[in-house]
Amino acid sequence: MIIDKRILLVVTGGIAAYKTPELVRQLTKAGARVRVILTKGGAQFVTPMTLEALTQDTVYQDLFSLTDENSMGHIELSRDADLVIVAPATADIMAKMAAGMADDLATTALLATDKPVIIAPAMNVRMWEHPATRDNLKTLISRDITIIGPDEGDMACGEYGMGRMSAPEEIVETAVRFFSASGRLSGKRAIVTSGPTHEAIDPVRYIANHSSGKQGHAIASALAAQGCEVTLVSGPTNQSNPAGVHVVPVRTAREMLAACVASLPADIAVCAAAVADWRVSDEASQKMKKDGKSLAPLELCENPDILKTLGNSGTQRPGLLVGFAAETENIIDNARVKLSTKNCDWVLANDVSSDAGTFGGEHNTIHLVQQDDVEDWPRLTKDAVAEKLASRIADTLEETS
Ligand code: CTP
Repeated sequence: MIIDKRILLVVTGGIAAYKTPELVRQLTKAGARVRVILTKGGAQFVTPMTLEALTQDTVYQDLFSLTDENSMGHIELSRDADLVIVAPATADIMAKMAAGMADDLATTALLATDKPVIIAPAMNVRMWEHPATRDNLKTLISRDITIIGPDEGDMACGEYGMGRMSAPEEIVETAVRFFSASGRLSGKRAIVTSGPTHEAIDPVRYIANHSSGKQGHAIASALAAQGCEVTLVSGPTNQSNPAGVHVVPVRTAREMLAACVASLPADIAVCAAAVADWRVSDEASQKMKKDGKSLAPLELCENPDILKTLGNSGTQRPGLLVGFAAETENIIDNARVKLSTKNCDWVLANDVSSDAGTFGGEHNTIHLVQQDDVEDWPRLTKDAVAEKLASRIADTLEETS
């Protein structure tokens, strides 16, 4: 659970309101309990029923509705939240917030709140650039309101420019950062690799492995939940992007290495990817055709070792470097060899023989191998392994700082 908090989402009347069901879905997925205030304008673009289905709660719309006031009044709505997000924030709501108006449920709740507020402006580029909006923006910033976006791009009105609401992922990322600012790893940067890599044979075929990316993605999530700024370099997986994490999608081992090196320096690196050890030396530029004969063996060459490269990157070496050792026999001995040849600080050794069910499964049994110590962890879910690892990392960085 990344955001175990209550968020009040105020949806105002801009076309970008169509993105709010996705925003609610992502916030909820990250663990937040979301309540929605929908303005009259907002309800022109997204239905209360959609938002009610996603929040499994009433969508609050009317300041004077007895039903709404009975279940939760405007003061209670803002008091009950840990964070208020206004998305999309129109020029109108920004003006009303700046002026301290309270003429509907949204503005009243916003005036009544003493909780932190994030706004995601969305409007036509000329409205955004208008001196009135600039002044309102300055006023809101001076009141410690966090502004996210707007982004540049094509707009619904057919124009191009600044004014698009930031993507739901970015708004969620800001909320996660906000809550984890006091986390034990806040101010630290981490790189996590995850998933398999795909090494092309020809334009339609590739070499890969069974890695699902579950463990690596869970580690990225757990580090972010502790306030760490995480870059997740991920091979092709079906995992959804963890909230609050910067994801760099890659396909091959060489792309993964380049993305990791580009993300240095880092305080922490966790290499959880099942990188393909080999690639085809000479990838065919056209689809290979069968011709009734057997195919000559493919010539393979070794891929770069990402963990080893990071371990030997001199002054750029991450402060705490963690590798995995996927083994089917002599687990601890093989992990020790990897620890020293790849120059890492910890190796998390795990049994990946087919009867252990690690690849693609929900559980992992880890042995944390250091130069002169082995810690045996019980069989845990991959999420629990990730949380234990993030706490262990936080303990170690606190001890050494
Ligand atoms: N690793 C890597 N780059 C590679 C190969 C492995 O970064 N080209 C990392 C993995 O992410 C893991 C560790 O090295 O953290 C060990 O990976 P593993 O597959 O267990 O071992 P290999 O080094 O590939 O050795 P072998 O397959 O011979 O056991």
